[in-house]
Amino acid sequence: MRYSRALVKQVDFQPVMPRRIFVTSALPYANGQIHLGHLLEHIQTDIWVRFQRMRGNQVIYVCADDTHGTATMLRAEAEGITPETYIDRLRADHVRDFQRFQISHDNYYSTHSPENRELAEFMYNAAKAAGRITTSSVQQLYDPEKKLFLADRFVRGACPRCKTPDQPGDNCDACGATYAATDLEAPRSALSGATPVLRESEHYFFDVAPSTELLRNWLASSTQPEVANKLKEWLDAGLKPWDISRDAPYFGFLIPGTTDKYFYVWLDAPIGYMASLRNLLSRRNDFTFEEFWDANATGTEVHHFVGKDIINFHCLFWPALLTVSGFRRPTRVHVHGFVTVDGTKMSKSRGTFIEAGTYLEHLRPEYLRYYYAAKLNGTVDDIDINLDDFVQRVNSDLVGKLVNIASRCAGFISKQFSGRLAPSLPEPALFDELASAADSIAACYEADDTARAVREIMALADRANQYVAQAAPWTLAKDPDRAPEVQAICTQGLNLFRQLLVYIKPILPAVAEAAENFLNVPPLAWTDASTPLLNHAINPYAPLLTRLERAAIDRMVDASRATPSQAQPVAGLATGTDDNKESNVSEKSTISIDDFAKVQLKVARILEASAVEGADKLLQLRLDLGDHQRTVFSGIKSAYDPANLVGRLTVVVANLAPRKMRFGTSEGMVLAAGPGGSDIFLIAPDTGAQPGMDVT
Ligand code: 2FM
Ligand code: ZN
Repeated sequence: MRYSRALVKQVDFQPVMPRRIFVTSALPYANGQIHLGHLLEHIQTDIWVRFQRMRGNQVIYVCADDTHGTATMLRAEAEGITPETYIDRLRADHVRDFQRFQISHDNYYSTHSPENRELAEFMYNAAKAAGRITTSSVQQLYDPEKKLFLADRFVRGACPRCKTPDQPGDNCDACGATYAATDLEAPRSALSGATPVLRESEHYFFDVAPSTELLRNWLASSTQPEVANKLKEWLDAGLKPWDISRDAPYFGFLIPGTTDKYFYVWLDAPIGYMASLRNLLSRRNDFTFEEFWDANATGTEVHHFVGKDIINFHCLFWPALLTVSGFRRPTRVHVHGFVTVDGTKMSKSRGTFIEAGTYLEHLRPEYLRYYYAAKLNGTVDDIDINLDDFVQRVNSDLVGKLVNIASRCAGFISKQFSGRLAPSLPEPALFDELASAADSIAACYEADDTARAVREIMALADRANQYVAQAAPWTLAKDPDRAPEVQAICTQGLNLFRQLLVYIKPILPAVAEAAENFLNVPPLAWTDASTPLLNHAINPYAPLLTRLERAAIDRMVDASRATPSQAQPVAGLATGTDDNKESNVSEKSTISIDDFAKVQLKVARILEASAVEGADKLLQLRLDLGDHQRTVFSGIKSAYDPANLVGRLTVVVANLAPRKMRFGTSEGMVLAAGPGGSDIFLIAPDTGAQPGMDVT
């Protein structure tokens, strides 16, 4: 048992007054689609939030897009649109994806908002008034062509230790050495290829060190012990002033009193939690901003859910800044690990970097919600999605155990008893056994140990299935004299199912809603697990969940390999706007002319085009390259009717190594532009070009 006794006690004790809780998930960067990594955190948070709501607590759950930084600016520039237009587009995509995964945000806002600007300026001014803002001169590499300072990851060069060329500006991918960008040999800008020059500029710093003792105390009770221990290393080493400014040009908020210094994206990102709340409360009056955020707020709670890579921001800088500017500190920071797929980092080439949209084209959101819940245990351990295990867990637990109980009992009640449940239970002790698990399961949810909650729920589902199997209503139903027994057994079975539904509802809200309709009951609350449903008319049963086929997973993985939106529209930028983050810059940001010369581009005519059975995004193309023909698979189905492609010219990468796919071997790649969906445009040479011509 992992929890302290104190925590279990706290959960067992049902407060008379509901708790008033403000909850956040980390703000996704506004420059890429939502993927399995974001979903882990939002599903974890959403389960906790839904559990609290079922217990009668009052919860506000908000999020927003994290919009600021150099990367947003460059991406928008590359697309020829303003950063505002760019972030609005991404936000709409994010809201859509989270809704489809049943994430119950009360507000999904943006850090580029008037509320956030006002709060960021307020907090900065407060820190300044407290003497906690300092300035000092910083030497940094500067791109004379792009005319901007380069964060470490925007500089590439040879590793100072092992001399491997084209290494990023903070550590070497080949030998693991860490160094400053200024140590790189033959450095160049990943954005323009220009040789960077050293330039000085004045930076603004937040002096964190005076908060050291306060943080030490706060950490001890506000996050997991392993997180507190890790951060203690920072405290023991001495907290250095935190650089909170970036030079123009930058997409963000100007620092008050300056004309060319902006708040670093990480300064205003967590303030975005407060801004999203304030924006929500401008439309609601059941809560006040102050009751959550006043320095002496009592009786309310603030909970952040974050990944282990950003604990320094949330557990050091953020509580220090909050305190200095007169706000309360968070009640708890819930930290989770990273997602891996089949034991390795999510990978675009392996097709395991799976976007929310691609997932949903192939699988139901419940499967992922359940699988993550079955794995999350309240620690910072990484969560591995083993694809075979995923199929097995979903089918055996959800379909084979949970839904099975209802599908075995419902038909008898509908057909033989006009949908009416019996007036009493034949095995009240079994009902009580399931009811008595409520506190233990609640303690698991409270402590983010949904893995254990799922284990307990599935053990109870086994009990329920055993009961139904032993009672065998299908045998008794053959004898009309035993009809009352059949009704009683099925009433018992459906009541056990309903109890399990209460317990699993935070994880599977849409399944619970469908089951509530079937049971003809209002939304289930936690306490409903202790009272049976008797002498009550239910509705006809329709299957609540169907089996997951491994082939659907394979199709999703194939489609993820081919997803056009995975392409990087701006040289040098991958996902993430935080210019200090590892994921920020693609590994090959520029290529030399010699590299380019290796790519053989040829004009080809499309002779045949057809859909590929079992592949949602692929077309199979037969191409004429002048002196020979070949077959290429291309992820352009969402934009083209195959019939309209026949006869057209296009450009093909002719010397790409053949790639074996599930549907056959692709002998090259046709070139297309665009963000994806219906906006894919095949690159077509002017008429007059002939198949086989080199593209120069
Ligand atoms: O690491 C990230 O993805 C950040 N965008 C998280 C920001 S969380 C909060 F501080 F805003
Ligand atoms: Zn090296």
